[in-house]
Amino acid sequence: MKYSKILATGGYLPEKVLRNADLEKMVATSAEWIWERTGIEERHIAAPQETTCDLAEQAARQALQAAAVEPAAIDLIIVATTTPDYIFPSVASQLQERLGSYGCAAFDVQAVCTGFVYALSIADQFIRTGATRRALVVGAETFSRIINWQDRSTCILFGDGAGAVVVEAADEPGILSSRLHADGRHRELLWVPAGVSTGYDTTRQNAAYVAMSGSEVFKFAVNTLSRIAREILEASRMTIADIDWLVPHQANERILVATARKLHLPLERVINTVSTHANTSAASVPLALDVAVRDGRIQRGDTVLLEAFGGGFTWGAVLLNY
Ligand code: UT7
Repeated sequence: MKYSKILATGGYLPEKVLRNADLEKMVATSAEWIWERTGIEERHIAAPQETTCDLAEQAARQALQAAAVEPAAIDLIIVATTTPDYIFPSVASQLQERLGSYGCAAFDVQAVCTGFVYALSIADQFIRTGATRRALVVGAETFSRIINWQDRSTCILFGDGAGAVVVEAADEPGILSSRLHADGRHRELLWVPAGVSTGYDTTRQNAAYVAMSGSEVFKFAVNTLSRIAREILEASRMTIADIDWLVPHQANERILVATARKLHLPLERVINTVSTHANTSAASVPLALDVAVRDGRIQRGDTVLLEAFGGGFTWGAVLLNY
């Protein structure tokens, strides 16, 4: 078995919906401004007791059920998250316990919004080498917990959620190729300047909150997302015409539109969930994939390009036959 193949997808969004009109009451913004500048109308926010692992579990169970795979048959669990329940153990370890897939390898991946693309690429490498036969790959976030709800430049952008896929060894692709990158020089354009070893300065208002230089990140995102798409297509001797669906990271509708324009890809072939999910970081790509699989747009055999860009900076892409 030379390849890995996605058997099924799952997704979960917390019950509470925060609309743009609700944000008008919290910060100096307007529903129109948010909609016009980002394409976001609403986002889901985890309940106070609801954790990243809770969201991950719901999405994972849905994916396992859709794949008709028992948790005990999973031999690798990777969770991409920036907002784990604890410093340790990993969300993946917690999830393993909840699902009852005892004994298999389980770890978290931290690549912020690119986390799921990183995690899926890692799972693919494990499967290609024969180390793993069946993997559960999850992107899950409670990003609302690292948002300063008084900062209008960031709080309007993010939401909570989880997406999951079950990946299995296969004779045919499956995942055709993946490309991962990072450039740590730009870390201060998008980061949370607090942590375990630098410390949490509780006297500062922004101590453990997302800080972002929005317009710089925007430009980087558009250029990088179009470049990574070209890079992976060229490496696979394919062109944009071969792509049935682009599933990009969902940060801002204007980023999606500008990327599609640069790639000369019709918007009808871009999966866009930004209006109802907002930016769910590592969960955004698997959630968007799940939506498009469930509503029947993405069909078996379709060629799909997943791509993401996020803090670090990190970016990457996975090209696959669904
Ligand atoms: O996951 C990957 C990381 N994230 C992203 O990719 C996000 C990238 N950036 C963006 O999506 C956009 O840059 C934003 C949506 C954050 C901002 O949009 P923009 O068109 O780049 O606006 P801007 O930052 O240039 O700000 C324009 C104006 C500013 O006012 P002045 O200085 O021109 O008077 C801001 O203060 O809009 C103001 N502004 C707001 N006004 C109303 C910023 N946030 C808000 C707000 N409501 N929520």
